[in-house]
Amino acid sequence: MIENAEEPRVFATRSLPGAGLERLGREVALELWPGPGAVSREALLAGVARADGLLCLLTERIDGELLARAPRLRVISSCSVGLDHVDLAAATARHIPVGHTPGVLTDTTAELAIALLLNAARRVTEADRFVRAGQWREWSPDLLLGRDLAGSTLGVIGLGAIGRAVSARAHGLGMRVLGWNRTPRPVPDVELVPLPELLAAADFVSVHVALAPGTAGLLDAAALARMRPGAVLVNVARGGIVDETALAAALASGRLGAAALDVFATEPLPPTSPLLAAPNLVLTPHIGSASVRTRVRMADLAVDNLLAGLRGERMPRCANPEAYA
Ligand code: DGY
Repeated sequence: MIENAEEPRVFATRSLPGAGLERLGREVALELWPGPGAVSREALLAGVARADGLLCLLTERIDGELLARAPRLRVISSCSVGLDHVDLAAATARHIPVGHTPGVLTDTTAELAIALLLNAARRVTEADRFVRAGQWREWSPDLLLGRDLAGSTLGVIGLGAIGRAVSARAHGLGMRVLGWNRTPRPVPDVELVPLPELLAAADFVSVHVALAPGTAGLLDAAALARMRPGAVLVNVARGGIVDETALAAALASGRLGAAALDVFATEPLPPTSPLLAAPNLVLTPHIGSASVRTRVRMADLAVDNLLAGLRGERMPRCANPEAYA
């Protein structure tokens, strides 16, 4: 139990897999948004108004307006590695530490990137649709021909934990790996090159940078035009890094061979998105970290971060340690 004259109040925006929330409920006065679905902005603002701690997801915008409405709030814990939904500077200015969940989802997200690479290269989703539509009438030597990963070059944009995990797996698949990172960092068996060179040389490009002011729109129309004709793009990082209209046009014209996206500038993907009509495109609904084991680990770490913050201790994974100053 947290030693406090008054039991701290925590607002949690969603039920999470595993026993983390039950553990949290034994330590604090927990108010859990009952759902169904994501918490509304209105309910979120009402919830934080009376909370000492907030346990949130990437679906909630944690901005200056919210912080101004949360006079008691002293800890934020997001059950996500990405924090582009949180105004970190505003939280830091209020000395509010913000926890997140790096590390525990690295392998799971890297596995999805590889699954999407293989899917786009070998047209797995398209082949599934073909069979189900009753179009498979005979075996044919030119049916649904794809691309080999072995012997091809993969360009990895962003060499954090997930980018490095993807690089290691790509080596196992017989690929040459080129890498680019905003801050150059040596990675075994990855050739570091400038971004334009990576785009021009890679047969496959996989995106693993965080969404931040320096990476928003990084793969704009000009960058996509630098990619090799017929190249394949995979994005499991954040949608805002890729210009979706330019990508849809590059796929429609045949300039790019294929793409696979797990993340989008607006989620869920609006029915008006040009991506929905683009050919040779595999779409998944932001499931990079969606394995049973990983989602339980993320929830546990998010609860550990929150409890540590409420106790006035260092969080196991804090994105703004300067907030403690
Ligand atoms: C994250 O954690 O930021 C992922 O996008 C979802 O798990």
